[in-house]
Order: sequence, then structure tokens, then C-alpha cells
Amino acid sequence: MDPPQELAAAGRKRRRRGGVRNRKRLSSQKGLPPATAPPTPASPPVKRRRKDIAGQAAAMPKRGNTSSLLDKMRARLSGGHFRMLNEKLYTCSGEDAFDYFKNDPNLFDVYHTGYQEQMSHWPEQPVNVIINWLKSQNASWTVADFGCGNAAVAKNLKNKVFSIDLVSDEPSVIACDMAHTPLEPSSIDVAIFCLSLMGINYPSYLEEANRVLKPSGWLVIAEVRSRLDPSNGGADPEKFSKAIIQLGFSLVSKDVKNRMFILFYFRKKEKSKVAKSIDWPQLKPCLYKRR
Ligand SMILES: C[S@@+](CC[C@H](N)C(=O)[O-])C[C@H]1O[C@@H](n2cnc3c(N)ncnc32)[C@H](O)[C@@H]1O
Repeated sequence: MDPPQELAAAGRKRRRRGGVRNRKRLSSQKGLPPATAPPTPASPPVKRRRKDIAGQAAAMPKRGNTSSLLDKMRARLSGGHFRMLNEKLYTCSGEDAFDYFKNDPNLFDVYHTGYQEQMSHWPEQPVNVIINWLKSQNASWTVADFGCGNAAVAKNLKNKVFSIDLVSDEPSVIACDMAHTPLEPSSIDVAIFCLSLMGINYPSYLEEANRVLKPSGWLVIAEVRSRLDPSNGGADPEKFSKAIIQLGFSLVSKDVKNRMFILFYFRKKEKSKVAKSIDWPQLKPCLYKRR
């Protein structure tokens, strides 16, 4: 779970707004150690200015180095902002996350620039594994991509795809808290959650998927490996699967061959029945450390 990760380029072109203000608003999830995730930024320590006797800055960057120094400082700030937003998403409810981004949709760009930078260092992208799986299935299936990010699933498939996220960067993306989507009941063949079970109320996202899925519909979940690694403070993957089975699904297969994530392929039972009380395991946040 810890290949070197760099966030140097993250958000160079982005605005950095509300860092201190937003950090203050950050709520923390108590009692759970964070899931290990690759460290974020990026830049080597910035040299502090040292004054010589004449009062001149001895370590002042030479003219040619000024822009690279500024870039490094920007990357560091941007990396910090990404980590703050990432922690926010893992430690609040979907409803709070929706309100938060609605107030400042630019923060969504900051988050996704940082996220894409992180993912560029993963040996395999879970979303690509899911896209390839879907390509091998029926192109007439209707897909719902819960927490779609940059809507890669919709962009790479012929299927009808409902892309859902907290903010809509493009008209095809439905902006909502995915615990409450506008999708019709029993209208979807495949529901996808690719690293998107972030909110503390994640079971309500799966309940929503259950509502919109047709009988025998697929539920495909990719989740960060360390969140489901009991030896590392993560949840027991068996308990996680059992809870989803109690929701009315069968576990068809589990793909554990990737170092960074686990993939679950569930299918809604033809005559599915939700258990009266489901023992959902708590999923710890996946926090990115600074290097
Ligand atoms: C880690 S990103 C993954 C993005 C995409 N699935 C991928 O694999 O590239 C998780 C996404 O889930 C979205 N998300 C988290 N909670 C959400 C909620 N309650 N409602 C809608 N989207 C949510 C985030 O905004 C973010 O875009």
C-alpha cells in the first residue's frame, strides 16, 4: 500500500482557496486508525532564507530557480489541500459532503487533481479493471456509476451509464448525495462503487444501489485494500461481504490480486430480501500521509 507517491504537479494550475478556513471545519472520525495510503507530496523541503551579515538572503534562489521553487511551494500547498478534502470526505456523511462542495464547487477540482495524481502512481487503476469487465459483458446493460469522479466509466463504454457524484462538471453527471439518487427503482443492471464508499454512512449508498438495481443486477465494488485489512486496523472483508449478502446479494467473486485494492462482484438475488438488522463493519478512512 505504500509505493512512492508524488503530488508535486497536483494542482499547479489550480486555485487554492479556504485552506485554513476549511481545515478548521474538518471533522475527525474518532476511534479508528486511518487506513494506510501512499504519502502525498511531493516536493523536497523548501530551503529557508538565511540572512548573511550584510542582511542579504544567503539562500535566496537564483533567478532561474525562482519558478521551480514557487512550483514546489504551490505543490506542497495543493497537496495539503487535497489531503484535507480527502479526510473530509472520509469523515463526514454524504449529506454534509454534498453541502460542503455545493458551497464551493472549485474544491471538487482541487480534490480530483490531487486524486488523479495519487492514482497515477498505482500500478493498476481499479476503474480500468471495472471498465474492462463491463466491456466483456452485455453492452445493453444500464450502468449506474456511484461516485463517478471524472466519469471514466461513461466515457469508455457504449452502455447507457448514469454517472453520479457530489458535483457535476459536465451535464451528463448527476450531482447529488448518492444515498438519494433520482434513479427509478429496479432500473439498473450494474451498480458500481469504485473507491467511493467514503462517507461514514456508506451502508446507505449500498441500500440505494439495492433500491435501483433490477433483480439479478450486479453490484461491483472496488475498495482500498488497507480499509479491508484487519491486520492493519481495517475491517474484516468477510464481515463486509456478509453485510452485503444480508442486504439481499450473493457474492459471485472476489478479486484480491491487486496490491492496492480489492474488487467484489455481487449479484442481487432474484427474490432478494433485506435482513432486519445488518451488522455493517465500520470502514476506516483512507488518509494520505505527507512524505
Ligand atoms: C476516490 S473518488 C473515485 C472516483 C472514481 N470512481 C474513480 O474510480 O476514478 C470517490 C468519488 O466518490 C464521490 N463521492 C463520495 N461520497 C459521495 C456521495 N455521498 N455522493 C456522491 N458522490 C460521492 C467523490 O466526490 C469522489 O468523486
